[in-house]
Amino acid sequence: MSKFKVIAIDGPSSSGKGTIAKLVAQKLKFNYLDSGSIYRALAWLVIRHKVATTDIENILTLISQMNLSFRNDGVFINDENISMYIREEKIGMMASLLGKNEKIRQHLLEFQRSFAYHNNLVTDGRDMGSIVFPQANLKIFLTATAAKRAERRFQQLQLLDKSVKIEPILRDIIARDKQDSERKIAPLGYDKTYKLLDNTNLSIEQCVDYIINLYLL
Ligand code: C5P
Repeated sequence: MSKFKVIAIDGPSSSGKGTIAKLVAQKLKFNYLDSGSIYRALAWLVIRHKVATTDIENILTLISQMNLSFRNDGVFINDENISMYIREEKIGMMASLLGKNEKIRQHLLEFQRSFAYHNNLVTDGRDMGSIVFPQANLKIFLTATAAKRAERRFQQLQLLDKSVKIEPILRDIIARDKQDSERKIAPLGYDKTYKLLDNTNLSIEQCVDYIINLYLL
């Protein structure tokens, strides 16, 4: 087990995990890992190289050659900043599809664990507390109703595109929740080692304070 501290924040899409985890990391001076961006970067590579999602052998080769790094808040493959491409829902859905495969998950495990080799870490995803860091010092399952998550995402997207509609966003959220929670391997969910935090009616600051207080307890 790593001598470094780990706070794992798991939960469904658009629950605010990323924003909250990043702020907790900043306040505690821990490193931060957005594990979803690893799955998203892989999805982007699979699309770019036109590899079929059923061609696991080639996807595993892509993983072994994937030179992924996080620099100044950006996600890089080799020296290409792919941050702006990987946030699309098409990539999220592809990431979720790839995340169903056990071999793919297995191949990404050590890379994710390496973020706690030399530093304390706050990380968010779907299985960070259950599979990747089962000995995490604190595990949070962060969620909100699908309607609330869709509303938050809608407000974000509206800043970029006034014509965006909430119904397809809600549909996508429900579809991805279903795919992530019904998969056999590392399904989205929590057990008694987690603290459940439903932030439907909470602000970001309230969530950050709650998590830090629990950690410092
Ligand atoms: O969190 P985010 O929406 O960026 O993740 C994209 C997809 O990657 C998720 O829907 C999920 O299927 C997959 N993922 C995962 N395990 C993680 C993080 C993300 O399976 N730890």
